[in-house]
Amino acid sequence: MELKNLIAHGDEVEVYEYEGKAVKVFLNPEKKEKCLYEALTQARVETTLVNSWLKMPKVQEVSVLPDGRWAITMDLIKGKTMYELMKEDPSKVDLYIDKMVEIQMELHSQYMPLLSKLKDKMARQIKSLGVIDEIKKYELLTRLDSMPKHIKLCHGNFSPKNIIINDEGTYVLDWVAARQGNASADVARTYLLLCLEYPEIAEKYMDKFCMASGTSKRYVQAWLPIVAAAQLIKNKPEEKDLLMKWIDVVEYD
Ligand SMILES: Nc1ncnc2c1ncn2[C@@H]1O[C@H](COP(=O)(O)OP(=O)(O)O)[C@@H](O)[C@H]1O
Ligand SMILES: [Mg+2]
Repeated sequence: MELKNLIAHGDEVEVYEYEGKAVKVFLNPEKKEKCLYEALTQARVETTLVNSWLKMPKVQEVSVLPDGRWAITMDLIKGKTMYELMKEDPSKVDLYIDKMVEIQMELHSQYMPLLSKLKDKMARQIKSLGVIDEIKKYELLTRLDSMPKHIKLCHGNFSPKNIIINDEGTYVLDWVAARQGNASADVARTYLLLCLEYPEIAEKYMDKFCMASGTSKRYVQAWLPIVAAAQLIKNKPEEKDLLMKWIDVVEYD
């Protein structure tokens, strides 16, 4: 497999077009477990989304490249991401946010008892943090434990960069972080991602989601210190100030 046509890259992956398919290559050859976990999670979500109008690329193959890197071959989804479209034509941003909300609510209407639990993942991440003290950790874990347990499909990285809408339908990509859990946690996570990658629209997204779904904003905000702490695990210096600030907020106005 000679990969030449790079179509996108993330922090840890490169995505190539190859023989009409997309090949997501994990740059670090040690990422075997992550690659296999992502492929399994994606395959599990596929079986659930067959009943939905939402689409996703289907896993076609998992392989090891000659240089030792792991890769997932999947359907190639043509078109620009919603993020690219928003940046190109800011006058349509409102329409795109409405669409994002509609897609995310459709995801949350799916039940996913087969996926592992979002709460378990967040607890594990918070416990392993070195940058916050034990008292703060205990406070965050107690808060997490008190949150209602749900089994809804949570994408875990739901952001405009992971959505492509083309003539064939509405596609959601990038399923590595998908878990079963509480929809408000997933919305708090999206709000955090937007604050980091597209801050101008974060507030509007949160308002529109709460309005459309009848969710109280306070309920979503209660998750913010938790999702912020969980994101600290990525160890990105440019995010640290914002995340530490969120962790310390007990009540939002
Ligand atoms: N199946 C696919 N078809 C077309 N483009 C894709 C596909 N999978 C990923 N991409 C492109 O690659 C980018 C990064 O892939 P993604 O799975 O989101 O990885 P990351 O974990 O780095 O966000 C996406 O934002 C999208 O632009
Ligand atoms: Mg992505």
